[in-house]
Amino acid sequence: MATPNKEIVLSGIRATGNLHLGNYFGALRKFVAVQDDYDCNFFIADLHALTTNPDPNQLHANVKSILAEYLAAGLDPEKSTIFVQSDVPEISEMYLLLNMHVGIGELMRTASFKDKARKALGIGTPADDSDEAFEKEIIGASTNKRVNAGLLTYPTLMAVDILIQKANKVPVGKDQLQHLELTRRFARRFNSFYGVDLFPEPTDFDFGGAPVKVPGLDGSGKMGKSEGNCIYLIDDPKVLRKKVMRAMTDEGPKEPNSPMTEPIANLFTLLELTSTPEIVTSFREAYADCSIRYGDLKKQLAEDILNITTPIRERVNDILADDAYLSQVVKRGAEKARERASQTLAEMRQIMGIRKF
Ligand code: ADP
Ligand code: TRP
Repeated sequence: MATPNKEIVLSGIRATGNLHLGNYFGALRKFVAVQDDYDCNFFIADLHALTTNPDPNQLHANVKSILAEYLAAGLDPEKSTIFVQSDVPEISEMYLLLNMHVGIGELMRTASFKDKARKALGIGTPADDSDEAFEKEIIGASTNKRVNAGLLTYPTLMAVDILIQKANKVPVGKDQLQHLELTRRFARRFNSFYGVDLFPEPTDFDFGGAPVKVPGLDGSGKMGKSEGNCIYLIDDPKVLRKKVMRAMTDEGPKEPNSPMTEPIANLFTLLELTSTPEIVTSFREAYADCSIRYGDLKKQLAEDILNITTPIRERVNDILADDAYLSQVVKRGAEKARERASQTLAEMRQIMGIRKF
């Protein structure tokens, strides 16, 4: 609940599909944990979703499912402001204003832009990954395989989400830290250009632990929607067990204390996130003395993941069926979010010289 003396926490997740374990450990779990101690604001980034998923038939369903998963995982509308990004039109106006102070060069050098732009063009990372070569790829792209400008200005929109609420702390996964760094830079730049102290510089928020990166079980570095390797919070136990049992492994340690290959290290990372320290230690010891059986490790892991996801999955369906409740939550959330947003926007317009007759 908005309390003047509490630090402001804000974060969002794009409306691009159901939430997976990466979203849970990288973001949602932290949201739930900080609700009592901060002025918390959590939203569903539907405008950001339009940069890569412009299908109008899916967008609303995606917003709704994330909202239900937020609530099922323990976000409480009595404690936190929970809203949908597009319900706050001030964000779109501020996005236009802030863009006047953002350089296209710095946006083009952002790792996530390079990544998504290449995906949009259907090309992998070329041997020449220099900024110059990348620029040529973008400018030379044909119009039917274009990189939309919304993708380029994605970091501006994210900075606006944060700055319009004057947030101090932003809980996100590791992959979002570069965007947060840009947000700080834009805040400093605006303040110093106009000689004002309008925006605080937000910091990452991981309450103690280091930012986590949840790996995929296919031997890849990251669990993510576009990687197609997700374990979803709403996966049915059968499906979930199957996914875990199919996880990539290797032939097993041949000598005591062998180094771990990436797929095995990934299994341990997930086990550490979901299991007890005793269980993790016992499997680590079994790995070190070569007695480990990967089948046992996977079975254990599947059950530990289910312990976390089952209560959430069970609540999601009930919540999804209650349209009146969902709309009441976001209506109230939007009202609260717009209070501060309209205040910040008015200050910004004033500072930039936009006056009414
Ligand atoms: P995806 O990568 O599946 O598209 P998003 O980009 O929508 O997911 O991420 C939403 C939030 O979840 C962000 O805070 C992001 O840092 C976090 N997140 C996503 N995947 C992971 C992961 N594999 N490990 C840790 N955090 C993650
Ligand atoms: N870019 C974030 C992601 O892909 C989602 C996001 C949009 C966000 N605006 C934000 C996260 C503001 C934190 C704060 O995960």
